[in-house]
Amino acid sequence: MTTSRAKLPLRSQTPDSWAVAALREPVALLNDHAHLEKKAAGNALELIDRWPDPTPPDYWVEKMAAIARDETDHLLVVTRLLGRRGGAMSKFHRNPYAAELRKLVRGGTPQELMDRLMVSAADRGAVVRAV
Ligand SMILES: [Fe+2]
Repeated sequence: MTTSRAKLPLRSQTPDSWAVAALREPVALLNDHAHLEKKAAGNALELIDRWPDPTPPDYWVEKMAAIARDETDHLLVVTRLLGRRGGAMSKFHRNPYAAELRKLVRGGTPQELMDRLMVSAADRGAVVRAV
């Protein structure tokens, strides 16, 4: 299914020039993608024991574990594609966009879990579908 960008509820549009620039360096793009998949899997695992008080929503642990498994599967696919292009996942990775998103989490507050879920959703879109 193809979705027209005009129909997406986005506050700003990614310029076509971004896609053109990203496609000039497919190995770097795939490496970035691999790190995002790894991070998504790690976030889901980290959220397993951070449910909203007083009790976890139904199937919380199962949903978070399923997300972690899905994201790990994605990581495997992306690293395979990376390898086919002669690349390998780097040991270190910095993503300014993700770092800025994480700064929005209000740590140590009752809103922390919701903030983390929202940031995860913005980053990957997987968590919101599961809860
Ligand atoms: Fe993913």
